[in-house]
Amino acid sequence: MIAAADINITTIERSRLNDIDLENIPFGKYFTDHMLEVDYEDGQWKNAEIKPFQPLLLSPSLAALHYGQAIFEGIKAYKNPKGEPYIFRPIDNYKRFNVSAERMQMPEVPEELFMEGMRMLIDLDKNWIPQQEDHSLYIRPFMFSSDELIGVRPSDKYKFMIILSPTGPYYNAPMRIYVEERFVRAAPGGVGFAKAAGNYGSAMYATAQAKKIGYDQVLWTDAFEHKYVQECGTMNIFFIIGGTAITPSLESGTILAGVTRDSAIVLLKEMGFNVEERPLSINDIINAHKAGVLYEVFGTGTAATISLIRELRYKDYVMNFDVENWRTAPELKRQLNAIRYGQVEDTHAWMYKV
Ligand code: COI
Repeated sequence: MIAAADINITTIERSRLNDIDLENIPFGKYFTDHMLEVDYEDGQWKNAEIKPFQPLLLSPSLAALHYGQAIFEGIKAYKNPKGEPYIFRPIDNYKRFNVSAERMQMPEVPEELFMEGMRMLIDLDKNWIPQQEDHSLYIRPFMFSSDELIGVRPSDKYKFMIILSPTGPYYNAPMRIYVEERFVRAAPGGVGFAKAAGNYGSAMYATAQAKKIGYDQVLWTDAFEHKYVQECGTMNIFFIIGGTAITPSLESGTILAGVTRDSAIVLLKEMGFNVEERPLSINDIINAHKAGVLYEVFGTGTAATISLIRELRYKDYVMNFDVENWRTAPELKRQLNAIRYGQVEDTHAWMYKV
């Protein structure tokens, strides 16, 4: 197994940080000075290196490019008011990474390699963590099969990498969402619960159709009846109906177990909400809207944090919301941010010191 001491470090000669305006950064466009790269070969992780961010030289026959054995995670690092770097709930993402790896028939990444590699990389590039509101350093661990062979079988070789991207808000404004009932994101028995690259690629066609008619993202429905709501764009979804917060449950294996989703459940309970994780049908949502008790709808995700939904359309039924007057989602976001930016005591032990 690779110990932290075995991670070889080569640093850049000149940082690119001064060339970038950290006040105005689109999501995922800029990357920090360094990256982590590790190889899996002969049943072992080896060649662990932190080195200057640079292109990879890959064979056109690389297995991942053909058959999509590729997974990733999304994590964020913040600075507290004293300027000290912290990572939000990285152990939860580490565990989920290996859940995805198992489902995609890929090797497990050892905890020390993932956590120490990430910590050392962030420590080296900590000056890239933006400090202003709604900004953070997005951490992207990923793994892909690297056999140079186009036979269809699990690879013998893999690459595990981490890159870092300073980032602002993912969705800038309250969103318009189209309830999708033709295309499917995930079915029971499939890979919906895994953070597999293909889940995102396969969502793009339906999303593009919704964008053509003015919507930002789709809200997926279940594969059999198109009746139960699932995930929304790159987010989990919450509905405040009366005094209850409802989010689709995970047991069908079609929904990603979001770390922000879990954090929202904890904080909503602390705010006094009854929280239900259960199948929720579009009919129940429409009935609540007609009865005037569908108060708020919002998405949660690492990139998206808490994103307000101002319109939800199902067939010809359009639900518009007065997001300006919402209390719950903005308060949830405020509380979550206060924890992440170290402005309040971290009573849940969510922040991991770099
Ligand atoms: C995240 O929230 O980290 C995601 O994975 C969404 C992303 C694909 C930008």
